[in-house]
Amino acid sequence: MKTALIILAAGKGSRMNSDLPKVLHPLGGAPLLAHAMQAGAAVNPERTVVVAGHGAALVRRAALGLDDTVRVAEQTEQLGTAHAAAQAREALNGFDGTAIVLFGDTPFVRPETLGAMTEARRTGHDVVILGFEAADPGRYGRLVMAGDSLERIVEFKDASDAERQISLCNSGVLACDAALLFDLISAISNDNAAGEYYLTDVVGLARARGLSATAVTCDESETLGINTRAELAGAEAAFQARARAAAFENGVTMPAPDTVHFALDTVVGRDTVIEPNVVFGPGVTIESGATIRAFSHLEGCHVARGGIVGPYARLRPGAELSEDVRIGNFVEVKNARIGEGTKVNHLSYIGDATLGRGTNVGAGTITCNYDGVMKHHTHIGDGVFIGSNTMLVAPVHIGDQAMTGSGSVITSDVEPEALALARAPQVEKPGMATKLFNMLRAKKAQQQRGS
Ligand code: UD1
Ligand code: CA
Repeated sequence: MKTALIILAAGKGSRMNSDLPKVLHPLGGAPLLAHAMQAGAAVNPERTVVVAGHGAALVRRAALGLDDTVRVAEQTEQLGTAHAAAQAREALNGFDGTAIVLFGDTPFVRPETLGAMTEARRTGHDVVILGFEAADPGRYGRLVMAGDSLERIVEFKDASDAERQISLCNSGVLACDAALLFDLISAISNDNAAGEYYLTDVVGLARARGLSATAVTCDESETLGINTRAELAGAEAAFQARARAAAFENGVTMPAPDTVHFALDTVVGRDTVIEPNVVFGPGVTIESGATIRAFSHLEGCHVARGGIVGPYARLRPGAELSEDVRIGNFVEVKNARIGEGTKVNHLSYIGDATLGRGTNVGAGTITCNYDGVMKHHTHIGDGVFIGSNTMLVAPVHIGDQAMTGSGSVITSDVEPEALALARAPQVEKPGMATKLFNMLRAKKAQQQRGS
């Protein structure tokens, strides 16, 4: 079945008390909008339309950054969910199939649930609504059923006392033939308690035309919408719990899972060990059999098989570690490719660099990549030994099997197999230490007598 997504994301989200549009607040390191788009991707949409309003320019940029095939429609005034969905009409011009409406602030809808909805469409229901049994139905819209048939949805504000007793609630997710949806929407009025155009009215209108409507139900946890910062924090906890459970399923070992933080797109291979207090920002891929040791922070990086990272390591965007690389404590790596088996074990900064295979970088080494205006590249070959506390002033090239002496400030290229020494030669003065000690002690004693 051909599908298209309409993601409603125009609302202000006043209760977030934020300058940032609500759908751009991050959950698992990705904007809420990304979660809704990922949930919707399960139905293989032919087109995706994001309806933006508050902070439309920011939402547009974020949506296109996530998927450049997305179409963004603008709702300049927020007159209700039906009015919002209507803004997608032009972007779906010529589309012949089922439109699925999702809310941009509702991140947890499962693929299986959307699958059940498209299945209900396929088996002949014209309008399919996602409902849930609410522990506390509160102010949700209520689903008025007659057997399996959904007769109408009544918004809380408009509901009678008897209708408010209904515990089957509207999640906001809807599936309907696209052409029919826009046709029904054009018949919706705002003659109701809120003075808004309610998308939920499509159900009653469809039934009045003798069309069929039904509800598919899911667990309440899937329909969780975010309205406040406290709810965002609660959603983060729920997201992390799911991500940890998925990691265990995938064969990842975590002795202290509650202290490991994942992002929406984190990929971790089998038999990888993640020690306590590890944080994954966006864009991390860890292959099988790696170890990420305690207190490490990773984002935008790739760790190949058998890598050992940390404890206390920081991998920043563009860190590409080949197999069996070791990155030790207090090492920061940014925009650098590190060859197989290479070790950077202690207290170093490797930025804008290419390192070959089997190279050893000594403690305290820094690639001086920034001259205050521009960034420059450091190239280190295979089998190189970089002595401790080497400053590599980029751009600079160290040939294969070369060495640098500890404490060197390397400003010129080093030939393969050469030893480069760039430090002040050592001077030795016999007996001078004793003389100096005696002089200083005498001075201290004099000061103490004087005071
Ligand atoms: C809506 C449903 C309600 C359901 C509840 C579930 C309607 C009329 N009511 O109510 O039955 O139980 O969601 O959470 O649909 N939006 C726009 N433009 C607008 C208005 C809203 O883009 O003009 C977007 C919002 O950004 C949000 C979503 O639509 O993502 C839902 O809007 P909201 O105002 O939160 O609807 P509810 O009153 O919660
Ligand atoms: Ca809401």
